[in-house]
Amino acid sequence: MQPTLSKPAPSRTGAINAVQKEDLPVHGWYRFVLSFPPHLVRRYMGAFALNGKDVILDPFCGTGTTLVEAKKAGIPGIGCDAHPFAAMVSRVKTNWSLKATILRSLLRRILKRTEGIATEHGLTPLSFDALLLQETSASLNGFRLTEEEERILPAGFLSQRPLQRLLILRQEIEQQTQDQAPAMREFFLVALAHVVAQGAGNFAFGPEIYRTKPKPDYDVLGHFARHAEKMALEIAAVQASGLAAASSLIFSTDARELAQLPEHISAVITSPPYPNEKDYTRTTRVESILLRLMTDKASLRGVKESLLRSNTRNIFVNDRDGEEVREFASIQKICGQIEARRIELHKDSGFERLYHKVVAHYFGGMRRHLRSLRPKLRAKARLAYVVGDQLSFLLVPIATARLLAEVAEAEGYKTIGCDLWRERIGTKVRNSPTNQKTVRVREEILLLQKA
Ligand SMILES: C[S@@+](CC[C@H](N)C(=O)[O-])C[C@H]1O[C@@H](n2cnc3c(N)ncnc32)[C@H](O)[C@@H]1O
Repeated sequence: MQPTLSKPAPSRTGAINAVQKEDLPVHGWYRFVLSFPPHLVRRYMGAFALNGKDVILDPFCGTGTTLVEAKKAGIPGIGCDAHPFAAMVSRVKTNWSLKATILRSLLRRILKRTEGIATEHGLTPLSFDALLLQETSASLNGFRLTEEEERILPAGFLSQRPLQRLLILRQEIEQQTQDQAPAMREFFLVALAHVVAQGAGNFAFGPEIYRTKPKPDYDVLGHFARHAEKMALEIAAVQASGLAAASSLIFSTDARELAQLPEHISAVITSPPYPNEKDYTRTTRVESILLRLMTDKASLRGVKESLLRSNTRNIFVNDRDGEEVREFASIQKICGQIEARRIELHKDSGFERLYHKVVAHYFGGMRRHLRSLRPKLRAKARLAYVVGDQLSFLLVPIATARLLAEVAEAEGYKTIGCDLWRERIGTKVRNSPTNQKTVRVREEILLLQKA
């Protein structure tokens, strides 16, 4: 590998991944817990010397960090995400053309109507008494999920009263915006999703999603009012600052099939999934159900199938991506080591048997992505992929950036660097009952160029 383009300070604390306070406007509308921070995007926009004549692509755009930064810098941006919720969040965060006065007057109507209906249905404003009520005591009054939706909602992630409040609010968002452009409705739905993830739901991230103590009730409307108002004020602020000119285009599509994208992309700054057992359909499941983006098992499965294979919960019998990396001895060796270790440890569950397949399908999927991306890139376009090394599968090390570089080189890219982003303290490895070892896991930025 050649010398790196820049030298970020390595960190083991996680602080480097935090969003700086001055970056919160727009980024804070809704953010994945594992989103990369805006300053990382700025670093590579600077290293690649991008300006308003360029076009940046984030093919795994998640909640839109790259696209919002591009827009703030006046650089046109394109984003793709196969998950409909992530695509919606990115769409909302990059549409700065809505009129703040209209948003605020709609907000007032939504709040008034929601409060009235909630009271009619016995959901009085939050009081100490209400918090003492058991969730089962709330009457259902028609505001409930369908049976199909309940089946895909992780157990205990949302209590009954907050759920009812959210469903009344959703109804009023839909009704009050029915004569408006769809973007108005999506704006308020993303504000609702933020309330679910940042307060109303019984879940948190550490960084994996986990269930927390159930909340008998939650001030859904108060939280929503404050957040939507803040979003509207931030729209007004970006419009006043003249930042709103650069265009953004969001595709709800699989990054392994990029035929519909425009050409002449000058740079890619992205953080794709990597094989780490993280299920992207679970981290935003409650929001996706409430926004009716997932309505039953079939639609959940459809989303899973459109994602890169990075965990054992989205492997399917007809998957063929693994065949794309048959000739890579390095990847085959890791798959072999994982399978041998599984047999040695007598790990025989259905999921454990899939570990080695995840790795092959993952790199095969990334190969398809890089292949379909190449014709869309300008000559010498530069690319930054943030990926982490892994020990998820029976502690067999997977050097993701190094393996991805090999795959990229086979598809017509040149590796121009690999920067250390941060090191995290990994799992304690038991080599024997008396021997424990702390491991450092590297998160890196693989830098490529169209060859
Ligand atoms: C690590 S997250 C990206 C986070 C993003 N950098 C941000 O700041 O919010 C990876 C994203 O890749 C998306 N993804 C996974 N497989 C995909 C595929 N085949 N095509 C497009 N997007 C995909 C996931 O839905 C997820 O939103």
